[in-house]
Amino acid sequence: MSSQILTDARQYEEMIGDKVPETDRPLFHLSSRSGWMNDPNGFSYYNGEYHLFYQYFPYDNRWGPMHWAHATSNDLLKWKFQPAALAPDTKADADGCFSGSAIELDDGRQLLFYTGVLVTEKYGQYVQHQCVAVKEGDEYVKYEGNPVLTSKDLPEGYSRYDFRDPKMFRLKDGTIGAVICACKEKDGRIAYYTSKDGFDWQFKGILAENNGRFGTIWECPDFFELDGRHVLICSPMNMRKTRTKYNSGNGTMALIGDFDEENTKLLNQIDQPIDGGIDFYAPTTMLTPDGRRVMVAWMQNWETIVYGSKDQFPWFGMMTVPRELHIVDDHLCQNPIRELENLRRNKVVYNNVEVSDWMSLDGVSGRTIDMTVNIRPKENEDFSHFEIRFAQGEDYLTSVRYRRTDSFVTVDRRYCGIRNAVINQRKMKVKETDGVIKLRIILDRFSAEVFINDGEQAISTTFYTPQSADGISFSSDGVAVMDVEKYDLSFD
Ligand code: FRU
Repeated sequence: MSSQILTDARQYEEMIGDKVPETDRPLFHLSSRSGWMNDPNGFSYYNGEYHLFYQYFPYDNRWGPMHWAHATSNDLLKWKFQPAALAPDTKADADGCFSGSAIELDDGRQLLFYTGVLVTEKYGQYVQHQCVAVKEGDEYVKYEGNPVLTSKDLPEGYSRYDFRDPKMFRLKDGTIGAVICACKEKDGRIAYYTSKDGFDWQFKGILAENNGRFGTIWECPDFFELDGRHVLICSPMNMRKTRTKYNSGNGTMALIGDFDEENTKLLNQIDQPIDGGIDFYAPTTMLTPDGRRVMVAWMQNWETIVYGSKDQFPWFGMMTVPRELHIVDDHLCQNPIRELENLRRNKVVYNNVEVSDWMSLDGVSGRTIDMTVNIRPKENEDFSHFEIRFAQGEDYLTSVRYRRTDSFVTVDRRYCGIRNAVINQRKMKVKETDGVIKLRIILDRFSAEVFINDGEQAISTTFYTPQSADGISFSSDGVAVMDVEKYDLSFD
């Protein structure tokens, strides 16, 4: 039986969330059922379906005591809401159920591993420890032995206030492994644990130490093997801006290296940001039944939040499009999952279009589209700036610019009606291949995700403008030549 707190959340999400007209939500990005969403949790395949849970406060468009919401899908694009899965309703998680993961146990049951938090008056901080819950019938039943891991299961000197976000995975011999965000003297560490049954966990070692290299604490870690390498992804807080790679604030990072299993160390780490856009945080991955490593992230960032008004939309927060990952030349590449191609309708193609002054193209507009633009200079000519404006109307526009002079792609939402002085532009260093830059832009009503050069880089942003602003236009300050392939995206 569910607690009163969980029952209330379920009633509220049905009452408020299910009244939202479909067109007031993204079409194929999972958005919060009602109220607030942050990190994706428990991203997994179980019992013939994909599952995606998320950090959830159903009652307001702001963060509050964390619940876990739940949605399922057959294709990772069309999502069906399920009743909220967890609420802060036991002694071990009375002030919140923070981020975590899901796995199928040997006996076929689904296990959730999450962080229970308790506010301490003395410090005004959350004590964080790890808890589990198992699916029994329609309910996720919390284990009476919670918490199953506390800061006592960390080495000396580690903080009890920054020990969160357990991510489980299966090891080759069937053991369950987990990486957990930990912290020593305000410096991020990734703790590594194993378990035979998902309930009884043993500390194995510290997989990686920040040592002041990237921000402070590394939230929401994930660890997996991909294309013969090992990858640790995490979301470092308090990043310092560097000239061409990282932005300040909350960032995301992949460390690609070699796993020394005996000593539990990730060696030879090569670092890179995961998405250089405005709205991207807390990515997490899963393995599909056909062996693809797929990532989703919260398409939002703590530093760039513009609180949606509850009157406009009674929900706030969405996930990115699920992205297939690969390592190419020690670099993490990402592209929208191939299932997205099943939504393509009304193909429009233009080749060798000369672009100088602002222009638009017949059949190229819309707010739910998949458009690839290849850009190169015209023979014996050059350009230094190329810009694509989209979600464009009389009062609004968002754009992506390529500055050839120093090879930066910028996403810019300054003119999307935001009235807060938050970050509205972000840029990433890119590389042309044989003089060509390739931009694939996925629009889904309130967001744009730009995949650069077949997924070498990605840059994402949200914008909450009226759907009537659906124009697309192109310009260059010299003479550029472009090829455009554009599809509408629809389930019908
Ligand atoms: C990251 C995060 C996690 C935590 C959760 C709380 O966005 O701070 O570390 O578990 O959000 O909602």
